[in-house]
Amino acid sequence: MNRIIAVHSYKGGTGKTLLSVNLAATLAKHGKKVGLFDLDFRAPSLFAIFKMPKAEYWLNDYLNGACDINKVLIDLSPRIQGKNNFFVGLANPATEAIRDMSAKDRKWEMRALGRLLSLRNTLLNDKEFDYLIFDTSPGLQYSSINAIVAADFVVVATTGDRSDVDGTSRMLRELYNLFEKKTGLVLNKVLDSSSKSKKDEMHRKVKDVYQVPLLGLVPCFCEVLRAEGNFIFAQDKSDHPFTKILDEMAKRIENNEVN
Ligand SMILES: Nc1ncnc2c1ncn2[C@@H]1O[C@H](COP(=O)(O)OP(=O)(O)OP(=O)(O)O)[C@@H](O)[C@H]1O
Ligand SMILES: [Mg+2]
Repeated sequence: MNRIIAVHSYKGGTGKTLLSVNLAATLAKHGKKVGLFDLDFRAPSLFAIFKMPKAEYWLNDYLNGACDINKVLIDLSPRIQGKNNFFVGLANPATEAIRDMSAKDRKWEMRALGRLLSLRNTLLNDKEFDYLIFDTSPGLQYSSINAIVAADFVVVATTGDRSDVDGTSRMLRELYNLFEKKTGLVLNKVLDSSSKSKKDEMHRKVKDVYQVPLLGLVPCFCEVLRAEGNFIFAQDKSDHPFTKILDEMAKRIENNEVN
């Protein structure tokens, strides 16, 4: 089962945070118990997206060994209609905290990996979470590598941008393979996927270029851009095509069709 999912990419701005939030919200909407974690310590964003007041404990504190994970988890179930199963763990957005996290050494990162790995026991086994979703920093940040190592499955977000294609192919061959991670590619911000033949052609291209399963193909939606992160599409805009695509992606994950 792919219960710990890292959302990663080679380049920045490929849609990791958007996909993490909406995938987590969709799984919660489907009745799963979900924890969504901001592991982008360089540029935390879930704090702003969920318009949180200052948290008492951050994921930074958990990884520093200063508190247990229950202190970090914030219950945001009221954001998911009629469900009681959506939690987030936030990265500290204060400048001081970002600088502190960037200065960590290898030894600290190894200990942090141990704490990340132990979430499987504390949350999946003891607290009966169904899924943990890790939103990560792009590229080869240590925190992202830790997230990938701790995950069962990596959702790789990419766009059609040439430099993104090359970098993503390299990461698929070298990084994820090295850790023997299962991956599913999301081709995001697709400009022309209007017809079935265009979609089929894109599916074929992705298989040729990346040689990994395609988890989803997401068009570039002006409405998503215009929303400026002000609402969770998958929750607040139930009829939007973006929501329907996320629904399909979540079902593929739930049905274990992405091995
Ligand atoms: N399919 C899409 N259609 C329209 N806009 C999109 C789409 N996917 C992402 N965006 C927009 O692109 C921008 C970057 O998205 P997001 O912050 O999720 O990327 P990211 O990979 O998390 O970036 P970073 O690497 O900086 O963390 C946001 O403004 C987001 O709304
Ligand atoms: Mg992000």
